[in-house]
Amino acid sequence: MPDESVKVAVRVRPFNQREKDRSAKLIIKMQGQMTSISNPEAPNEEPKSFSFDYSYWSHDGFKERSDGILEPAGGSNYSSQRRVFEDLGQGVLDNAFEGYNCSLFAYGQTGSGKSYSMVGYGQNKGIVPITCDEMFKSIDKNTDSNKRFEVTFSMLEIYNEQVRDLLSKDNPKGGLNVRQNPKLGLFYVENLKRVPVGSYAEIEKRTEQGTASRTVASTNMNATSSRAHTVVTITFDQIIKSESGSETKKSSVMNLVDLAGSERADSTGATGDRLKEGANINKSLSALGNVISALADLSMGTKKKIMVPYRDSILTKLLQNALGGNSKTIMIAALSPADINYDETLSTLRYADRAKKIKNKAVVNENPLDKLIRELKEENERLKKAMEGGGVMMQEGAGLTPEELEKMRKQMEEDIRAQLMANQAMLADNEESWNEKLAEARTETDKIDTGGADDKRKNKEPYLINLNEDPMLSGVICHFLNNGETSVGRKDASPVPNICLSGLSIQKQHAVIFNKKGVIEIESVSGSGSKTKINGLPLTGRKALCHKDRILFGSNHMYVLMNPLKPDTADNSLPKEITWEYAQKEIAQVKGFATGSAGLSKEQQIVQEQVLEILPMVSEVNAVSEELNKQKSFEVVLISAAAQEGGDVTQSQASNWTSKVTVKMKNLLNGNTWLWERGKFITRRYLIQELYQKFLDGEDVSNIPKEQDPFWEPTEDVLIGTSNLFLQSLSYCLDFMDTLNISDYKGQEEGQLKVKLEPCDNKGKPIDEEAFVDDPHELLNKPYHFKLTVETANIHKSRFSKGILVKYSVKNNGKMEEVKTPTVKNTLTPTFNHSKVISIPKLKQENLDFFESGCITLSVYGIQEDTMPDPKLLKLNTRELREATMYKELRNLTINQELRQMETMENTTANASGRRATMFGNEIASDTSHLKTEVVLLQRKYERLQQKERRMQQICEEWSKKPDGEKQFEPFYRAVSAVANSTGTRLKTRVQMLNQMLKLQKSVALPSYKDNSSSMLRLQKDSPDLQRQKTMDPSMLSKANKTSTATNGKRPSSAENNKTESSACVIQ
Ligand SMILES: Nc1ncnc2c1ncn2[C@@H]1O[C@H](COP(=O)(O)OP(=O)(O)O)[C@@H](O)[C@H]1O
Ligand SMILES: [Mg+2]
Repeated sequence: MPDESVKVAVRVRPFNQREKDRSAKLIIKMQGQMTSISNPEAPNEEPKSFSFDYSYWSHDGFKERSDGILEPAGGSNYSSQRRVFEDLGQGVLDNAFEGYNCSLFAYGQTGSGKSYSMVGYGQNKGIVPITCDEMFKSIDKNTDSNKRFEVTFSMLEIYNEQVRDLLSKDNPKGGLNVRQNPKLGLFYVENLKRVPVGSYAEIEKRTEQGTASRTVASTNMNATSSRAHTVVTITFDQIIKSESGSETKKSSVMNLVDLAGSERADSTGATGDRLKEGANINKSLSALGNVISALADLSMGTKKKIMVPYRDSILTKLLQNALGGNSKTIMIAALSPADINYDETLSTLRYADRAKKIKNKAVVNENPLDKLIRELKEENERLKKAMEGGGVMMQEGAGLTPEELEKMRKQMEEDIRAQLMANQAMLADNEESWNEKLAEARTETDKIDTGGADDKRKNKEPYLINLNEDPMLSGVICHFLNNGETSVGRKDASPVPNICLSGLSIQKQHAVIFNKKGVIEIESVSGSGSKTKINGLPLTGRKALCHKDRILFGSNHMYVLMNPLKPDTADNSLPKEITWEYAQKEIAQVKGFATGSAGLSKEQQIVQEQVLEILPMVSEVNAVSEELNKQKSFEVVLISAAAQEGGDVTQSQASNWTSKVTVKMKNLLNGNTWLWERGKFITRRYLIQELYQKFLDGEDVSNIPKEQDPFWEPTEDVLIGTSNLFLQSLSYCLDFMDTLNISDYKGQEEGQLKVKLEPCDNKGKPIDEEAFVDDPHELLNKPYHFKLTVETANIHKSRFSKGILVKYSVKNNGKMEEVKTPTVKNTLTPTFNHSKVISIPKLKQENLDFFESGCITLSVYGIQEDTMPDPKLLKLNTRELREATMYKELRNLTINQELRQMETMENTTANASGRRATMFGNEIASDTSHLKTEVVLLQRKYERLQQKERRMQQICEEWSKKPDGEKQFEPFYRAVSAVANSTGTRLKTRVQMLNQMLKLQKSVALPSYKDNSSSMLRLQKDSPDLQRQKTMDPSMLSKANKTSTATNGKRPSSAENNKTESSACVIQ
C-alpha cells in the first residue's frame, strides 16, 4: 500500500456582522488551488501564496434560497456546503465502504468557520450530517441479504486534558480514562458510550443530545467551548456472508474532529506569569502542532530519527491513527477573511501547509470473522497469562526510579485488564446481540428530550432560549414558561425549581417568572444575593419583560425571552436575531465601555473586541472570588498608550494611540492592586476555573499553598501614573524645567512631578546659554549629552505614602537603559533630586526627530506592602467587601465625572460617556502636556531671539556711533550675521511660531509670560501672514506643527517653510 498524503482543504467564510460594520478589508484571494493572503500593514508587499488540494471560496457570490440554503449566485465560484461534501465527504464515505479508516478534522481560530464546515448551521448542513445521511441512504439501498451493517456513534469532548462523554449523563470526576491497547499500541477511551444507530435520524438526535450536553457543561462549569475539541467517532462495519457461510468483516472507523480554536491567548502577555506552566490551556492543540511538524519532517526525510510525540496530549493519543497511521485523512483549514485576523490566518495557512506533507499508510480493514474471533481468543489467553503469577514484571528501565517503574507496571496491568474486558465484549458480539443492542439504544434515543425541538409549542407559548458565545451552542436550550409561576434556581432548593441552573452566582432560589396569558414579569428572589440582569441592567424587585428581552442569570446563563403571544419588543431598534454578541455589547455599554464601530483604527477595533471578550471573564472571576471568598476583585482597565511604560511615542503615532486591555486585581482588605496583562489574566482565569471545578468536585481548596493559588500574587510596586516629558528643547540646546502632571490610566490627575532637562557636557556639567542653536541641524554629527533630573513629586493619594519612586527607560549610548530613582519613603512629597546623564555619541537625524516628537515616559510607582487589614474588614466576606468598594468607587466616579464635565464643558450624558472619556482621557492629558511643553519651549526660543535682536540692535547702534572713517562694512556684516545666523525670512518664520504661541497661551492655562506686545507689533508689520494667523485656534497649532514635522529631515528652505505654514492656515 503506497503512502498517501493528508489532503488539505482551505475555506474562507463571509464577513460576519461585526466585520461588515467596521468595513473590514478582505485579505484572502483564491485562484484554482492557490490561496494567497496579503498583509494589510504592508500593501506593497507581495501576497504570500500557498497551494492546497482544495481551496473553497465561500466568502461571497452566494444567494439564499427560500429554504435558507446558500448556493452560488449566477456563475460565481462560491463553494456551498454541498460542494464541499461532494469533494471531501463523499470521499470519506467511499473509503468507509471500502474498509478504510478515515479522519476529517477542522482547524482554525474561533469563529473562522470550523463548525460551519463540519456540522453546519440550520439548513446549511455540514460534512458530518450529510455524510451520515448519505451513509444510511446507501445502506438502505442495499438489497443483498448476505450483507449487514453495524454502525455506532460516539461523541466526546476534550477540555483541559479531560475526556467527557457527551452522550452520557454521568461522567466521572477528572474525565474518562484514555488507555493504550497493549497489542496494537493504539489509544482509546475506556467506557466511552458507543451507541448503535440504525438511521440518520438517530444520529441527528444523538448529535443534538451531545450538543445540549456541551451547552450545559459550558454554561454550568463556565468552560469555554472554543477551548474544547469535539470528536465524533462513527464505526462502520459491514459483515458479508460468503456462499460457503463464512463471514467477513470490513470495518472503518471515522473520526470527525472539530478542533479547539487555534488562536494564541496572547502568549506574550502570559510569559512573565509564574503560574503559566500550570495552565495547559491549549496543550492538546500545541501537541497536535508538534506531532504534525514531526510527521512532516519524517515524510520529507529531512531528519531521520524523530520521535513523534503522540503521548504528549489526550488529543494526539486519540488521533494517532489519523495522523501518520492507518487512516485516510483530510484537514479543513478554516480562514477568516478580515484584515484584523491577518496574523492568525497566516499561521493557519502555515499550519495547513505543514499538514499536507504528512503521509499515511491506510489499509483496508477486512478480515474473516472466524479469524478475528480466533485472534481475539488467542489474545485473551495471552493477556490472562500475563496477568497470572503476580501480574506484569517490569525490566529495570533506563533512568526510571522504582516509583516510576511501579507506576508504569500498574498502568500496564490496568490496560491489560481493560483490554480483556473489551475483548470479551467483542467476542459476545454477534448478529442477535447486535440487534438487541440496537433496539435498546433506539428506545433510549426516542426518549431523549432535545428541548429546543418543539417547534409547534414555540408558536404558542412564551419561552426562554439560551445564548452562548459559541453560535453552535446558542438556541440549544429552551424553557417554556407555563401560565402562572416559573421558578428559577438551584436543584438543591426545596421545592426543586422549575428551571434548574447551576454554576456561579446562581442562588438556591434565584428568580421567579410570572406569565399571565402572555404578560410576563420577572422578580428577583432573596433580594440581596440574587444576580440577574435584564438587558444589561441589574434586576431589583419586579420588572415586566418584553419579547426579545435579554436575561442573564448569575454570571453565565444568558437567555432571550421569546413571546409569540405579545410579539412587541420594548425597543424597535433591536436586530432581527439577538445574538450573544449583542447581549454582551449591551452589558459592556451599561458598564461604560464604548462599543461603537465607526471610524476606529485597526488597533482600536482589536481593543474593542478584546474588551468584549474579557468582560464576561472578569465577571466570572469576580463571581468565583466571591464564592471561594478570596477577598479579591477584578476590573477591566484600559491603559492608554501614553500611560504605558517606556512609551516611545512619536507624534506621528499619536493619532492612533491605542489603549491596552488590562485587568486590575485588587486586594479588598488592604487596597493593594496589581495590573495583569490580558494574556496573563486569561491564563489565570483558566486556572481559576480549574480551581473552582475542584471546589465543585468537593475538594477542599480553601488552604491551597499561595504559590499555587491563581488569586495570589506577591506584592509589587503599583503604577500610580505616568508623565510624559517632551524633548523639543533639546533640539535647540535649551534647558527646560517643568512641573508635569502625573495621570493614571484613566487620565485622572494623581499628582505632579518636577523635572529638569539640561544639555550638558559628558560629565553632566550644564553648558552655557550661548550654546543655543537656532537650527537643530547644527547639532548633527556631534556628540550630545543631556541631563535628566527628577526633582520632586507631589502625590495626592495617601495610600501611596509608603514609598514612591520613578522609573523610565531611555536610550543611553545607543542602548536602552532602565533608570530608577531611589525610593523615598513615608511621604507624599518626595524629593528625589535624581539625575542621569544621557549621551548620544553622534547625533543623527533620527535623534532630532525623536527630540521633536518623542517623549520619555516617567512612570511613578508606589510601594505596596502586605499590611494587615482593618479588623473590621476581616469580618466581611468577599461579596460584602466588593459591595462596599463598589459603593465607594461609584461615589468617586460620579464626583470625577462631574469634575471632568465641568472641565471640558462637554454636554455629554453621564455613565457611558464618562467611561468612554477614560478610554481616551490619558491621551487628551498627554496631548495637553505635549502642547504645554511646546509653548514653554517656544517661549524660551522667543526670549533667545529677543536677546539676539537686542544684540543686533546693539551692534547697529555701536556701528552708527562710530566715526564714518571706521565704519567698515565687512566686520559689521560678520558681527550681525554671526548673531542672526539666519536670513530675514527665517526670522519671520520664527516669529510666526511665536504668534501661534501667543494664541495658544490664551487658551491653555500656563505659567505667565512676559508681555512683549510692542516688539510683536513691530514684527507683525513685516509679516502679512501673521494677520491671517491671528484667528488660528490652538488645535490648528498641532496641525501646523505636524505639517512642519513632516518636512523634517530634509531641512526645508525658507520658502518651503513659509508654504507649509500658510497651507496650515488654509485648513481653517
Ligand atoms: N462558509 C460559511 N458561510 C456562511 N457563514 C459561515 C461560513 N463559515 C462560518 N460562517 C459563520 O461564521 C460564524 C462562525 O463560524 P463557526 O463555524 O461557528 O466558527 P468556529 O467553529 O470556527 O468557531 C457562524 O455564525 C457561521 O454561521
Ligand atoms: Mg465551533
